[in-house]
Amino acid sequence: MLKILKKFENLSLANLFLYYQRLVRNTYFCALICSFQLSPMKLAVVGATGLVGSEILEVLQEHQFPYDKLLLVASERSKGKQISFNGHGYQVIGLAEAVAAKPHIAIFSAGGSTSLEWAPAFAAMGTVVIDNSSAWRMDPSKKLVVPEINAKTLSPEDKIIANPNCSTIQMVLALEPLRQRYGIKRIVVSTYQSVTGTGKAAVDQMMAERAGEVNPPKVYPHKIDLNVLPHIDVFQPNGYTKEEMKMILETKKIFGDDSIQVTSTTVRIPTMGGHSEAVNVEFKQDFDLAEVRSLLENAPGIIVQDDPANFIYPMPITSHKKDEVFVGRLRRDESQPNTLNMWIVADNLRKGAATNAVQIAEYLLENKLI
Ligand SMILES: NC(=O)c1ccc[n+]([C@@H]2O[C@H](COP(=O)([O-])OP(=O)(O)OC[C@H]3O[C@@H](n4cnc5c(N)ncnc54)[C@H](OP(=O)(O)O)[C@@H]3O)[C@@H](O)[C@H]2O)c1
Repeated sequence: MLKILKKFENLSLANLFLYYQRLVRNTYFCALICSFQLSPMKLAVVGATGLVGSEILEVLQEHQFPYDKLLLVASERSKGKQISFNGHGYQVIGLAEAVAAKPHIAIFSAGGSTSLEWAPAFAAMGTVVIDNSSAWRMDPSKKLVVPEINAKTLSPEDKIIANPNCSTIQMVLALEPLRQRYGIKRIVVSTYQSVTGTGKAAVDQMMAERAGEVNPPKVYPHKIDLNVLPHIDVFQPNGYTKEEMKMILETKKIFGDDSIQVTSTTVRIPTMGGHSEAVNVEFKQDFDLAEVRSLLENAPGIIVQDDPANFIYPMPITSHKKDEVFVGRLRRDESQPNTLNMWIVADNLRKGAATNAVQIAEYLLENKLI
């Protein structure tokens, strides 16, 4: 009980309301599933042995996502491996077996090439694929969804739905209430991204370096522990990295506004727990700082932590394992009009991947789109 109360003590009214909604929704889901006894809900998690996949399982459990059958899927290397989850033992299966089982929903986090090859096979069976990779994000025929912003665009025809890039999700979620009020002209973002964003092998590299191993595994081109790499994903002909271009292009697509100017520098740092971002945003209109704070405090999924006098600001260590996006260091950019500086932190494995994907699945069920 104490644990539950502790979880609620820092939440705004908007977020308390979210928890209440979740409780009501779960009751509704149970009733819905009972009324569909002839068609039990089958859910597949593709990439279940990875960092995002494991987090998806935790979020499914915490959100009490309703399913009758859970299929845990990974590469041929992991076939037959046992995973215990929620008091049950599951045997990891391969993709062909999972497709043949015709799940209602498949949440993918197994890399772009696996998605490109297998998501259409699931979709052809009637499965709705929610994909965490970058494979489908910029495909004009696929929706790129952050539920709080654009879930309303989803329809029963959407069989492959893209989850945006982790750094993009937390930035657009924090900007959305401000965009609605003031309009956005330009965004300048610099990121400080956790090694968990690269996957299990990258965490192994950092930990091996930290332990002083002679031949640590090498995922990054340089040492990552005690270092900073201004390089995430591959370099593009224009000098940006692919991660930087994802932030630029995906932001425009999610907001449905190509006129917004975005520039990005993405940086890998030797932390775990979450990605941090320094965001400088120029609005179309002037703003009131107190109103900015109030808009953010009342927006779903956002927690404002902004009390510099008491050293309170968002950090990866405090955002770890949290579903929300944390915002702080709110201050006017005194070098030009209508411009705000903000610091945004979120657990990349949660809202940046697993939480957002599970929220999409919840939205589909709640709105009978499956
Ligand atoms: N990490 C993040 O913060 C984050 C955020 C947003 C999106 N994403 C995206 O999510 C995906 C997974 O990331 P991750 O960090 O979880 O990586 P990871 O820890 O390396 O896990 C990769 C998962 O994919 C599976 N897999 C790899 N090749 C496969 C294949 N050919 N067929 C079936 N399964 C295969 C792996 O299975 P085995 O164990 O059998 O190899 C493992 O379960 C990537 O597309 C990534 O871009 C990651």
